[in-house]
Amino acid sequence: MKIAIGCDHIVTDTKMALSDFLKAKGHEVLDMGTYDFTRTHYPIYGKKVGEAVVMGKADLGVCLCGTGVGINNAVNKVPGIRSALVRDMTTAIYAKEQLDANVIGFGARITGEFLICDILDAFIQEKYQETDENKQLIAKIKQIEKASEYQIDPNFFDEFIEKWNRDEYQDCEANQ
Ligand code: RB5
Repeated sequence: MKIAIGCDHIVTDTKMALSDFLKAKGHEVLDMGTYDFTRTHYPIYGKKVGEAVVMGKADLGVCLCGTGVGINNAVNKVPGIRSALVRDMTTAIYAKEQLDANVIGFGARITGEFLICDILDAFIQEKYQETDENKQLIAKIKQIEKASEYQIDPNFFDEFIEKWNRDEYQDCEANQ
């Protein structure tokens, strides 16, 4: 399977470990960044992972940040993405089986690397059960989405990045 993976700077080490884990299982990994520990911002990578999945470049996506909340919110704004922020096996399996989740999110400062690997493996292997009820529910959720043209602007995050560069954002204490 082709799997797109993205993270912010505080969990790049976990992303590298997951990438190795996925490759060892025979998957192809599309690493959407970030690639080092230089401070950056999670929506950039959530957007990239989401776009790789909806454009068909990847079958599934994996998003990581400190808590998982930030990047998971961002990836869920990409039309066509159904991402589940997960800390346990039951939720991951439910997300795939019932909601056909195409991205899984983790807080890599919250959940340990080994548990993430096990949950991720279970999520990948789980099959979506296409019942009438699930189909209708997913279709209904899709009706809420609206794509906006301006999101394809390559300078979409410039304002954010400039603020980071001016030191106007700080990582919250728990994440430093
Ligand atoms: C660091 O920017 C941290 O706030 C982020 O990784 C994440 O925990 C947000 O949900």
